[in-house]
Amino acid sequence: MDYKNQVAQAVAAVVPELDEATILSKVEVPKDSSMGDFAFPTFLLAKERHMAPNQIAAEVAEAIDASNFKQVEAAGPYVNFFLNQENFGADVLHAILENQEYGHNTDGEAGHVTIDMSSPNIAKPMSMGHLRSTVIGNSLAEISKANGYQPIKINHLGDWGTQFGKLMVAYKMWGSEAEVKADPINTLVKYYVRFHEEAKENPALDDEGRAWFKKLEDGDEEARQLWSWFREESLKEFMELYETLDIEFDSFNGEAFYNDKMDGVIDTLKEEGLLVESQGAQVVNLDKYNLNVAMIQRTDGATLYMTRDLAAAIFRKKNYNFVKSLYVVGGEQREHFLQMKAVLKEMGSEWSDDVEHIPFGLITVDGKKLSTRSGRIILLKDVLKDSVELALEQIEEKNPTLANKELVAHEVGTGAVVFHDLMNERIGNFDFKLEEVVRFEGDTGPYVQYANARAQSILRKAGNPELDLSDVVITDENVWETEKLLGDFNDVVRRAWRDREPSVIAKYALNLARTFNKYYANSKILADDGQLNARLALVTAVSQVLTESLRLLGVKAPKEM
Ligand code: ARG
Repeated sequence: MDYKNQVAQAVAAVVPELDEATILSKVEVPKDSSMGDFAFPTFLLAKERHMAPNQIAAEVAEAIDASNFKQVEAAGPYVNFFLNQENFGADVLHAILENQEYGHNTDGEAGHVTIDMSSPNIAKPMSMGHLRSTVIGNSLAEISKANGYQPIKINHLGDWGTQFGKLMVAYKMWGSEAEVKADPINTLVKYYVRFHEEAKENPALDDEGRAWFKKLEDGDEEARQLWSWFREESLKEFMELYETLDIEFDSFNGEAFYNDKMDGVIDTLKEEGLLVESQGAQVVNLDKYNLNVAMIQRTDGATLYMTRDLAAAIFRKKNYNFVKSLYVVGGEQREHFLQMKAVLKEMGSEWSDDVEHIPFGLITVDGKKLSTRSGRIILLKDVLKDSVELALEQIEEKNPTLANKELVAHEVGTGAVVFHDLMNERIGNFDFKLEEVVRFEGDTGPYVQYANARAQSILRKAGNPELDLSDVVITDENVWETEKLLGDFNDVVRRAWRDREPSVIAKYALNLARTFNKYYANSKILADDGQLNARLALVTAVSQVLTESLRLLGVKAPKEM
């Protein structure tokens, strides 16, 4: 089904000056399809032939064997190729219906890709930022798999750091076990907020907090027990959210896991002569990278976020032997990851170039930023609950007799939030207005899901017949745009991985849904003529590709809604 190759072959037959591979690399896809589906520029022949490119184009177009194409014509310095639409369409439908994995490739050669994603902080609610990391990371994992890699999804839980010392002090002063058990995260946040308020008046509290964290790092029994209890209770709540989104992880090794692996890092840094003292702390100088010093060890000997990340990076290389190591973390940590890569490089790790920070922008909800410390929190689980409710309202209105309404509302409501998150380039900031996200019209997940459900309903109406793949030519010109888009899917999956951009898939899915809806509005699909089988093949192919696109985004595709 490689039409670009066909074009290159046809050109090569009449342009002996160039080899086929060179020609293939020069074949373009015109922006405007009225200029053809492919074009070959003739500039590079001008010297050789001592002729103006326009003339060469005319000569080549004249000489070429055009029998495989609808039309071949010269336009200025280009030779434009118009594909035979009916053949192209039939080829695409074949390729899709014969291969459930249409769109996948093996480029990755089964290489491992670690994906650091979600990574919320224990004893704090999961923020919109963590949601972004979760859904972007999950989608990149699926996209990497479709490109032949093996993803390893790692939840680098924020389960270590001075805040746990503070929390312990707060809990010991004002806490109650029953209260924590009843509503873990909210209660722990309450203690934490109170701690900060009181510490403003009484700075000695901060010292006490630091002392308790030190105890924790030194393995003190009581500190350990409190810590693992806070962790467990918080994790329970996070797991509910992951279940709602149907997202799984391969590892929950958080920051604490690297506790016994940091001495190794510090030793290596010392051996390499990279560690220097600065105001009592141990740092690595990164002047030559134009970066601030990386703090490795504090005055009191306590380690830092950076130290744990260095240990984690090295552990991941050893343990998973990755070809790429991705960190899906907000753009505000850009400097941190630049420093981390620089320190790894200084340590002589050649693989530091395979470490990639995948940053993303901020979400505001109805124009408001979310923050823990102020106590002004919009809880993620509430956002998802509201969106499922909104989805249910719309289903009640549109399709009141639908079976499994609750399940479908769940898939549409959560899918809407996820799709909205992935629809725009990840680096951008955006505001989130629930009513807009869950609409069945416009640029939304439910719109794509609805197009797929419509395709499924057409197939049901036709009685879900067995398709005859030997007869899938459609002569109706309205179908052309849809078939062409279906043919793009391989490229789209590659581009999404190359740019680490789920939005490439989301935009494609919207486009395909829109184009298919237009076709559906203008042509009678179920007309009982000689091409009914071919049109049902097209509808099946559209549904398959829409479903796969949504799957790559982590969004379900209900067959009815
Ligand atoms: N827990 C951190 C936070 O919420 C994110 C961790 C990201 N991953 C990493 N390896 N540093 O900000």
